[in-house]
Order: sequence, then structure tokens, then C-alpha cells
Amino acid sequence: MSLVSLKFLLFAKTASSDPRTDHNIRASSQFLYYRQNHPGLYFRHGYNVVCFSGKLEPFSWNNVIKAYATCNADCSRREAVRVFVDMRRLGIRPNEHTFPFLFKACASFLGLGVGRQIHGDVLKHGLHFNVYVQNTLIHFYGCCKKILDAYKVFDEMTHRTVVSWNSVISASIECSWFYDSIELFIKMRDRGFEPDETTMVIVLSSCAELGNLSLGKWVHSQVIAKGMSVNCQLGTALVDMYGKCGDVDYASLVFRRTVHRNVWTWSSMILGFAQHGFAGYALQLFDEMRRNHSIKPNHVTFLGVLCACSHAGLVEDGRYYFNEMKQVHGISPRMVHFGAMVDILGRAGLLEEAYAFVTKMPFEADAVVWRALLSACTIHDVNDCTGVGEKVRRRLTELEPKRCGNFVMLANSFAEVGLWEKAAQLRSRMRRGGLKKIGGASFLEVGGSTFKFFSGDYSCVPFSDIILLLNTLNLHANMIRF
Ligand SMILES: *[C@@H]1O[C@H](CO)[C@@H](O)[C@H](O)[C@H]1NC(C)=O
Ligand SMILES: *[C@@H]1O[C@H](CO)[C@@H](O)[C@H](O)[C@H]1NC(C)=O
Repeated sequence: MSLVSLKFLLFAKTASSDPRTDHNIRASSQFLYYRQNHPGLYFRHGYNVVCFSGKLEPFSWNNVIKAYATCNADCSRREAVRVFVDMRRLGIRPNEHTFPFLFKACASFLGLGVGRQIHGDVLKHGLHFNVYVQNTLIHFYGCCKKILDAYKVFDEMTHRTVVSWNSVISASIECSWFYDSIELFIKMRDRGFEPDETTMVIVLSSCAELGNLSLGKWVHSQVIAKGMSVNCQLGTALVDMYGKCGDVDYASLVFRRTVHRNVWTWSSMILGFAQHGFAGYALQLFDEMRRNHSIKPNHVTFLGVLCACSHAGLVEDGRYYFNEMKQVHGISPRMVHFGAMVDILGRAGLLEEAYAFVTKMPFEADAVVWRALLSACTIHDVNDCTGVGEKVRRRLTELEPKRCGNFVMLANSFAEVGLWEKAAQLRSRMRRGGLKKIGGASFLEVGGSTFKFFSGDYSCVPFSDIILLLNTLNLHANMIRF
């Protein structure tokens, strides 16, 4: 039996003894069973559910939608929408309990188009002033990176709750409007809403993404001032924030003081150490974590471990952990893990092995991975004796023909080895192609100091650190807020 139907039966068992409710639950769990196991019979059964329940009420349907929207496998979340469509076809009027789970489902598979249509249905049924519907709409638009739509729903709210504020702050972070999220947080307090632990977790993740330590400390002071107990999530958010903002000592202090730690807490600390070059501490902590068998490492843990191996130049250990991740823990390496492994091999000057490694990846390497290798080539094999550099350059210009950073890097590396003519040719190609040298500068506060870097200009900090940093920033934003 699938997890969903199991959940359903459990729910059915614990539900009230009201015979009508009981009947509805039985009908809807049967419905679910048929839909999954006998797709052919399902439609007839769908009608049966309606006939059995006697009335055109949405109760059983809402439960089916909820079960699909909250199940673990991504694929079946779309089913929630299909059930909704069937429900509407049968002429059943949705109510305020129908929509929140639908928007949650749409958010999870980023179904912007279908979500907008359902939003239209909300308006048609006059439920657009329901606070639960509005909260999930904000969440949905945030996940789909439609911040203006999220703000519009928020601005139109006549009644807001803490959850509404958390949703809109979270949405602005989702869309990388980090300073906006801080402003919203301040506005929230000014309007007399009391932030809860979730608010703090969200706002701390924004500070972490900004790398703004002073801001992060200020939010931490708010946590202390409110006398909030530092639960697992809040502890993790603090460790993550201090780690990302470069205050590893403080991250460590908070980590030791957090009583309830889960794998995310450990991973944030390991990654924090690794990113700031404390490879030894990172690996020590990983060992300590493994002594507690109830905590299973995940993909972020291994990212931290690989990052540490890269800093410490531990090629053998890197290979070992990369394989352990797959073979012992069944974690499929993602792009960042391949990138980290390429970085390990590249830093050690094993350019040909790194190149072979990239070509054997189960999916196409992205430009970030290739750039990590290119950067290693420009350090270890300036004259390109191995020929790897040339192959990587070609691949990169194929992948990103318009990206001026690659040209800049290429031109610079040609110039470095004295190939002035080639460099000059390339620069003129850039001009012809209408590429401006400086597309956009970014600022990052790393380890307490602010770095300015351009796409393609990696002279200010060791190149691969920034890449890893940027990658993990994204990874973490999603992880903390679940
Ligand atoms: C950190 O945030 C504060 C408040 O928004 C701002 O005044 C300050 O300039 C920021 N610091 C950096 C380094 O960006
Ligand atoms: C192992 O981790 C669990 C979950 O965080 C915790 O409850 C337990 O106390 C830990 N055990 C040891 C020996 O640290």
C-alpha cells in the first residue's frame, strides 16, 4: 500500500465517530485506492463517491487533494490539481479548505500557469479575502519567483496574521529581494505583529544570503531580547548565518549551545568551517557527527566535507568521501558535488583526471564546473601542455557564447602566457559581438570583509571559493526554510 493511502487510513481511523464524516472518509480513501491501483475504474468510482455522500459537498474531495498535496513524492503532487479538475467537472463547489492545499501543491512543482488559473477560480468563488487562501497564494507566487504578484496579494489583504508576514518575507527572499525582506520584517514589528521563531529563521536566512554580519547580529539580538528558546531550526539558522557571514567562532559557540541538533545543524557547521578554510575542524566535526548513529549525513554534509578536502588538498580523502556518499549513503551527487570534486582534483594539478571525471558525469556539466577546471588549468598548466585548457575553453564558449566573463578570463590567460596576439584577437571579437567588459558587479561580504567581483573577474578571492560559496548560498536558502 502506498504511503498516501496508508496516511489516509490512519486519518480515517482517528477521525470522529460521526457516521456521516466516517462515511465520507471511507469513501475518499476508497477513491484514492482506486485511483492509484485501478486507474480504469477510478472515474466510475469518483462518481460513486459523490453519489454515496449524497450531497455535492467538497469535504471528501478536499481530503483527497490534501493527501496528494502533502505526499512525499513530487510526481503525485500534480495529482492534487487533477483531482480538483475532476471535482469541478462534477459540479462540486470548492470552499476555503480546497484552495490552500492546491496552492501548496502548485508551489511544490512550480506550476505557475495552473496556479494562476486556480487563482482565477478563487476570485470566481469570492474566496480571495480568506486569509488562509491568501497566505498560500503569497507562498505560491514566491516559489514561482513572481514577487510582484505575491506583494499584490499581500497588499490587498484586509486581515493579516503572523503567517501572512512570514509568507511575504519568505517570498521576497525566494526572489532574492533580501533587503526588502528586512524592511518587511521591520514593518511587521512596527505594525504590532510579534515575530515568531519561524520569522526569525526566515530573516536569519536572508542575513546569511546577504553575508551581512551586522544585520545578522541585530536579528540575533532580537531573538535574545524576545527570550525565544533556541530550538533546532532556530539554532541551525543562527549557525548558518554566522557561518556564512564569516564569524566561525560565533557559529561554533551557538552550535555547542544548541541542545537539539539535527543533520542540518551539523551540516551548517561543517560547511561553515570548510568554507572558511578550517578544513581540520570540519572533518573532525564530521567524525564526531558520525559517532552518533542516529544522524545520517545528507548532501549538504558531504558538500561541506568535499569543500574541506579541497581546502586541505586531501585528494585521496576527497575521492573516498565522494564514493562513500554514493555507495554507502545512496546520495546521488548533484552538480555542486561534481564541482567540488573537480575543484579537489584541479587544485592538486590532476587536470587530465579532472577532465575525464567531468566527461564521465551522468549529466552535462554546467559552466560552473567547467570554469572551476579552467581556473585550475590557468594555475597548474599555464602553457597548456596537457591540452586540457583548450578543450575546456572550447566547451565553455559553446555553453556560454555570450558570457563575457569567459572571454575576459580567456583573454587574460592568453595574455599571461604572452600570447598577446591571440588575446588581442579575442578582445576585438568581444567588441564586435557587442559585449561590454563589465556587465555587472556583485558585492559579497565574506569573512567579514566585502568583496567586489565581476562575472569573469575572479582576481579578488580564490576563484573556486566564491563559486562554492555562491552555490551553497542557494542550497541553504532552500534547506533552512524547508
Ligand atoms: C548591512 O545591512 C545594514 C542594514 O540594512 C546596512 O546599513 C549596511 O550597509 C549593510 N552592510 C553591508 C556591508 O552591506
Ligand atoms: C544523537 O543524536 C540524537 C538526535 O539529535 C540525540 O537525541 C542524542 O542525544 C545523540 N546521542 C549522542 C550520544 O550524542
